[in-house]
Amino acid sequence: MNKKFLVIGNPIEHSLSPKLHNYWIKKNNLNASYDKKLLEQNEIRQLILDLREEKIHGLNVTVPFKKTVIPFLDILSDEAKNSQSVNTIYKNKDKIIGDNTDIEGFKTGLETTSQVIKNKKVLILGAGGVVPSIIIALKKMQIAKIYLSNRTKEKALEIKKNFPEIEIIEWGKTINFDIIINATSIGLGEKDEINIDYKNISQNKFFYDVIYNPNETNFLKKAKNFGAQIENGKMMFVYQAQKAFFIWHNILPVIDKETLNLLDL
Ligand code: ATR
Repeated sequence: MNKKFLVIGNPIEHSLSPKLHNYWIKKNNLNASYDKKLLEQNEIRQLILDLREEKIHGLNVTVPFKKTVIPFLDILSDEAKNSQSVNTIYKNKDKIIGDNTDIEGFKTGLETTSQVIKNKKVLILGAGGVVPSIIIALKKMQIAKIYLSNRTKEKALEIKKNFPEIEIIEWGKTINFDIIINATSIGLGEKDEINIDYKNISQNKFFYDVIYNPNETNFLKKAKNFGAQIENGKMMFVYQAQKAFFIWHNILPVIDKETLNLLDL
């Protein structure tokens, strides 16, 4: 039987998940296919029904449905529950399960860099769907302190309700961080700029951008010019996909040079 997998989101056109999953499906000689589907919120119910009836065998979920998909699911993994964010869905013993592989994806992605996270101070920019997952991963990595700044302060305060230990910073202000993470969508556009003060930036600062397309956002480009260390979200993306693949197929697919080349844009 050909098993069907989908990534759902809106927009979805630029998702690289089909490319990556279909590559691994082929490598492992599996009888499966993985497509992308542009979705409206009112179509989620039917899609979960298709999953119950095994017309579909697994879903990846991306912006803006990671939270809104939750009411349609039977069981959440601890990680999905704690982050209130689901990116991987499957059926197990007649139950529809929502899981979150973004947390481990972010964590493993960082662990493949030479960066030390333990006891560091981090400033996160943005308060979108991926931010709770990043916070949980950083806490697992024993970060000393998390600051959060978002244009719409209410959304930052909403996140603080679940993570009271974080500190909210006004949008446009900075603090003396060790690590700064762009989790906003600023940088997807070529001319997008984040207004932060780069004058104190030096070699020992680490700039991380969740965006990996473009490869180097202006945020990372500028930081590099000032001597900082930089990393984009590519490995986070690859590892969240690897963990989803394992959940569905019980195979941990190999991440090699060829895999990474697939994602070079
Ligand atoms: P969602 O909120 O649906 O998960 P997202 O793309 O993950 O969407 O999140 C977008 C993030 O980028 C938000 O933090 C958003 O800030 P607001 O909460 O104020 O909307 C941020 N963002 C996008 N464009 C921005 C801009 N021009 N200036 C500042 N922040 C911006």
